[in-house]
Amino acid sequence: MAFSILLTLLVACTAVVGVPTGQTGLDDDMIAKVKANLAQIATHSWEIGTELETLLELESPELSVFGGTIPPPRVLASDSTASDVITKASEIVGNDTDTAGPLIDGDGAVGDPASLGVPVLLANWTRSDPKFSVAASNQLSYLLNDAPRTEDGAISHRADQVQLWADFVYMAPPFIAYYGALQGGSTGYDLLQLAYTQCKLYRQYLKDDSGLWQHIILGSGTDATHWGTGNAWAAAGMLRVLETIRRSSEADNMLSERLELTSWINEILTHAWNYQQTNGTLLNWIDQADSFPDSSSTALLGAVTYRMAALTGDLTHISSANDAFDVIKASLTDDGWLLNTVDPLTFNTPSASGSYSPEGQAFVLLLHSAWRDYAATFERR
Ligand SMILES: *[C@@H]1O[C@H](CO)[C@@H](O)[C@H](O)[C@H]1NC(C)=O
Ligand SMILES: *[C@@H]1O[C@H](CO)[C@@H](O)[C@H](O)[C@H]1NC(C)=O
Ligand SMILES: *[C@@H]1O[C@H](CO)[C@@H](O)[C@H](O)[C@H]1NC(C)=O
Repeated sequence: MAFSILLTLLVACTAVVGVPTGQTGLDDDMIAKVKANLAQIATHSWEIGTELETLLELESPELSVFGGTIPPPRVLASDSTASDVITKASEIVGNDTDTAGPLIDGDGAVGDPASLGVPVLLANWTRSDPKFSVAASNQLSYLLNDAPRTEDGAISHRADQVQLWADFVYMAPPFIAYYGALQGGSTGYDLLQLAYTQCKLYRQYLKDDSGLWQHIILGSGTDATHWGTGNAWAAAGMLRVLETIRRSSEADNMLSERLELTSWINEILTHAWNYQQTNGTLLNWIDQADSFPDSSSTALLGAVTYRMAALTGDLTHISSANDAFDVIKASLTDDGWLLNTVDPLTFNTPSASGSYSPEGQAFVLLLHSAWRDYAATFERR
């Protein structure tokens, strides 16, 4: 309670001095092209999961974790509301012939298929069809009971060895939290706590003295670099968990957890923007001056920055987000493809000429949606 009053005051105070929202945002034509290109190239589990979260934020913000209440209404405004997301969730569940286990083949990853869990839970909630509930419950059970873990309980991102990837934080904890917020009661509370605890453990393992997160630790095939997209996944995932808790019935019972998540997200933003280049881009290895520019992480960290500013009223990083939006606009082709992305499968090379990043396409739309909601927050006051 005290926390929300503090936030309200912060927001109110900044509004008094007038908040520049910047001349930014994309036009409808560009949004449509970026979206169509995303749909064309999103094929892996995490890419489709991220695509569906993106469509909710873009087109049905009241059903995303950044608007409305959780649980959402049982009955959607119309048959067309979020129909693209629900149709895709139906297709995934229809293809899920495995009676137990993840929703979709995760290419060896534990965490990635869970990113599809939120749309499946939304489909269950609004269509009341038990096949969605069973599929979501199997996905949760796989994460909780079958996936390998560290001794202190961090769920592995990989199925064949215990290994922690920053990417996990966007894929699994937001699903666990959303599941908990829908269940309510003590089961729901325990799941919300578990989502928070996974963020806490992942930060303990991956954040180092630089203030940034390493990409992959433990097991074989580690990556100790401060990968831009890894830091962006971590910040954006913790933000989804924070917002899910805040909109759930446990919001007032989890104030200290919300404050911690807030500070962990800000920690990444502060240390990442510290290395922002003059034209607004971040580098693929954020703090290595000889690294190549990466528009994907620039877009997602920009999105997190707008949402955090709308949430807390702290505008410290808004000029960084506006500069990031400028370089993203400069990196979009007329056909709606994002250039200057890292190849999301190698992590260490730019996307080859003529090939594009599915997650980068999604992050452009997340950036636009976050900016739109940020601008509306301050225009309303
Ligand atoms: C479902 O399976 C069909 C046939 O194998 C495939 O074409 C389609 O891409 C799958 N859909 C998803 C969302 O995985
Ligand atoms: C699916 O929806 C039903 C009600 O329609 C609810 O009772 C059930 O808990 C939901 N399942 C999940 C996994 O959220
Ligand atoms: C932004 O600056 C970097 C150098 O820091 C450069 O490599 C990149 O091409 C620039 N991006 C655009 C869109 O001009």
